[in-house]
Amino acid sequence: MDDLDVALAAARAGGDVIRQHFGTNVETEWKGEVDPVTAVDRAAEEAILAVIRSHRPDDRILAEESGGHDWNEGRVWIVDPVDGTVNFVHAFPQVATSIGLRQDGQGIVGVVESAVNREVFAAEAGSGATLGGRPIHVSGVDQAARALVGTGFAYDRQQRAQEMTDTLAGVLSRFQGIRRVGSAALDLCWVAAGRMDAYWEYGVKPWDTAAGELIVEEAGGRISTFSGAAYPLDDPGIVASNRSVHDALLEAISE
Ligand code: IPD
Ligand code: CA
Ligand code: CA
Repeated sequence: MDDLDVALAAARAGGDVIRQHFGTNVETEWKGEVDPVTAVDRAAEEAILAVIRSHRPDDRILAEESGGHDWNEGRVWIVDPVDGTVNFVHAFPQVATSIGLRQDGQGIVGVVESAVNREVFAAEAGSGATLGGRPIHVSGVDQAARALVGTGFAYDRQQRAQEMTDTLAGVLSRFQGIRRVGSAALDLCWVAAGRMDAYWEYGVKPWDTAAGELIVEEAGGRISTFSGAAYPLDDPGIVASNRSVHDALLEAISE
């Protein structure tokens, strides 16, 4: 099995756990005031890690619920078992499993499985990005006023509500519209597939973006920090786009 097949099998195992429990009453604990974690986050992570460990026993793993190794040295699988846990607990059907494989910090494989509608986004470095096995590409929209933009609100939103509102106003006044999907991994994949033209968020973690970053780049898009620099996986701010509207978005969020 090659690395992509391992990632696909692992994502399917996580997706199966999500599908089994989606829409049921699952016990929820709280990592913070608005930051939930459920038994399904843990069970999906166990199922994913079992697949990775059985095929790649020597690789290292960084996973949201069980922790693990730094992502920037050697071969490291970076796992978010349930991206969109708030959606999951509300039976809002945008929930994904995200699995990225890095070699010395560079993305080599990324898979995001949208669990409820079973869309599988994937990329291998240098080989392009796919949705359900078919090639995908970012959109060709080149005017901010025609561009649909995604965003997310990190769990520290209470402390940063004013700042977030100001940024939203800057983007709303220039772009066509804003969507808040509730899964950073899906936001990135939807930019890759041309459903949205750009996305920004402050407060993301490596497991939110490890797979989606590669999928956007392999679909022809651009990823950067808020200052426009190359995005290191541990930067809290990420901007993704179809390239054409990137600078306009950077400008809008920097004001
Ligand atoms: C969250 C989702 C959400 C984003 C948050 C993430 P989780 O991940 O991706 O869209 O806005 O920043 O933490 O907690 O559901 O895995
Ligand atoms: Ca996440
Ligand atoms: Ca998660």
